[in-house]
This record gives sequence, C-alpha cells and structure tokens, in this order.
Amino acid sequence: PTSNIPVITIDGPTASGKGTVAHKVADKLGFHLLDSGALYRLTALQALRRETPLNDEHALAKLAEHLHIHFAGDAIYLSQENVSDAIRAEEVGNTASKIAALPAVRQALYGLQLSFRKTPGLVADGRDMGSVIFPHAPLKVFLTASVEARADRRYKQLIGKGISASMQDLLMDLKARDDRDMNRAIAPLAPAEGAHILDTSAMDADEATEQVLKWWAATHK
Ligand code: DC
Repeated sequence: PTSNIPVITIDGPTASGKGTVAHKVADKLGFHLLDSGALYRLTALQALRRETPLNDEHALAKLAEHLHIHFAGDAIYLSQENVSDAIRAEEVGNTASKIAALPAVRQALYGLQLSFRKTPGLVADGRDMGSVIFPHAPLKVFLTASVEARADRRYKQLIGKGISASMQDLLMDLKARDDRDMNRAIAPLAPAEGAHILDTSAMDADEATEQVLKWWAATHK
C-alpha cells in the first residue's frame, strides 16, 4: 500500500515560490515531485488549443482524463510535444485557474495525482495537496508571500526569460487568481489542518527550503 510512502505537501498561492522550494526539497531528499498545477495547466492548454468552451465541464473533464503527459526531469511533454514553456504563459495559468474550479475536472485529475506517490517519497506542490489529495501527509507546508513580493518575483522571472511584463498587470492578475483560487466552492486555497505556515516575503528559496527540511527532520524525532 502506498499509504506508508512519505509525502510532503507544499501548498500556496500563485508565485509564492512553492514550485522552486518543492524542487529543492525533492532534490535534497531524493524524492519524486508532483507539480499538480502543471496538470491543470496542461488541461488548460489542451482546452485552449481545441477551443473547448470553458463552461463545458464534461468536455473539460474528458480532456483532463485523457491527457497523455510525460515528465522527463524538468521538462513536461503533452503527447510527445515539449510544452514546458507553453504551459507557463499567463493565459494558460489564468485558464487553469478557471477550469480548476470545476469539480469534474478536479475529480478527473485525482487518481493521476495519487499515482505520483512512489518510494522513497513524494513532494507535492499545489493548492489542495495537504487538504484534499494527501490529507494524511506527515508534513504539510503552506507557503505564502505578500502579493507585492510575488508580483515582483513573477516580473523578474518574465523579464529574465525575455518576456515583457507590466507590474501593474501582474498585480491585477495575481489578485484575480488569488481571489478565484481562495473563493471557489471546491478545494479552495487555504492552509490544510496541521500545516506549517511559511511566509517567504523576505526569504529566498534556499532559506525556505532549509526551513522545510528542518520541519521534515523534526517529524522523525
Ligand atoms: O501552481 P500553478 O500556478 O501552476 O497553478 C495553476 C492553476 O491551477 C492555479 O491558479 C489553480 C489551479 N490549481 C489547483 O486548483 N489545484 C492545485 N492543486 C494546483 C493548481
């Protein structure tokens, strides 16, 4: 049974740095990694390409259920195509946040997420990893940062990739995403019961990683 395999859940809002921290923690421990947001983004990308109406819950759930995805290191493939960059586009993120509010879509991705739990362990990052998908995880972390700090990080990321960005637009976008992710009826973004809260507004990714590893070490004492 996979229920003995350790899981560390790292949930938090958009651009809180949870992806980076989850990567680093998984590397340090030699654990597998589940970037659950990528699954919603892949579904969104597929829906945008196929022009599936974003209110057609049934059709979107079908898309989610039949995704041919493949993770190879840091690269993410959708039916043989490397979509690692394509899924990071703001439009895809916004669409992901919209379709993630649909119960049938979340249900369609449920089993796939559980299947990432393999020995020696898993670090899972997302919005509901600790609250819904792995509620019995021995360590749950809720990573947050001020909306300004997150917009600033996203801005630097985009500029670093040579993508032009407006701070004003990013702030507005983040607030709209937070609002949607926190106020939806199903699996809303909120700290899971028993989660350690980590505010990274004034912390870099290495410091945040250290803290998570300390908490992890403490769970074995
Ligand atoms: O973490 P991210 O920005 O890649 O996630 C994209 C969207 O997917 C996010 O706005 C909400 C949704 N999501 C979710 O509802 N549940 C998760 N576990 C992960 C992401």
